[in-house]
Amino acid sequence: MTEMRVTHAVPADVPALAALEALCFPAAEAASEETLRGRVQAYGNHFYLLRDGETLVSFIDGLCTDRPDLTDDLFENPAAHSENGAWQMLFGVNTHPAWRGQGCASRLIRAMIADAKAQGRSGLVLTCKEALVGWYASFGFVSEGLSVSEHGGAVWYQMRLRF
Ligand SMILES: CC(C)(COP(=O)(O)OP(=O)(O)OC[C@H]1O[C@@H](n2cnc3c(N)ncnc32)[C@H](O)[C@@H]1OP(=O)(O)O)[C@@H](O)C(=O)NCCC(=O)NCCS
Repeated sequence: MTEMRVTHAVPADVPALAALEALCFPAAEAASEETLRGRVQAYGNHFYLLRDGETLVSFIDGLCTDRPDLTDDLFENPAAHSENGAWQMLFGVNTHPAWRGQGCASRLIRAMIADAKAQGRSGLVLTCKEALVGWYASFGFVSEGLSVSEHGGAVWYQMRLRF
């Protein structure tokens, strides 16, 4: 295995991002290529990608905003990004099935947390299914109970890491 590299995203990464998203999420929850293109154009610097050689194996992304809660509209609206926003949202966490359980997603989440702290933000906010609440708690996220989100028709919990 070659050494893995963490980068931000540029438009040329969009097809690979969309392919990995489709591999990791059911169709109702996966961000489309069009949505990902809009996000990368607006805040490619808030994507964290991990590559093994040339292969994209994991990525996370999310916009920044002064709004405190992660509501469904933010997923689809890249224009809501505010570079100086108080909160770094964490939308999707995706690791290719063949690379899971090796710390890839953890490495990217820690990188996003470190940058958000260095950028002087208030913290990070995410929504997740109940099964992952304990995992995100291990990074310092605290559950705020059920989210207002109905993304993909699922039940989501909102979690916040406050600096
Ligand atoms: C969740 C996900 C991103 C983890 O990626 P990863 O690179 O394997 O994560 P790491 O190796 O850094 O951490 C693995 C740890 O995450 C936790 N974890 C992963 N999937 C989990 C699940 N479904 N339920 C509970 N814990 C889970 C475990 O503690 C695991 O540790 P282990 O390997 O010792 O069992 C990956 O499984 C994935 O892409 N899943 C599909 C998409 C998804 O559900 N994303 C999260 C919702 S936004």
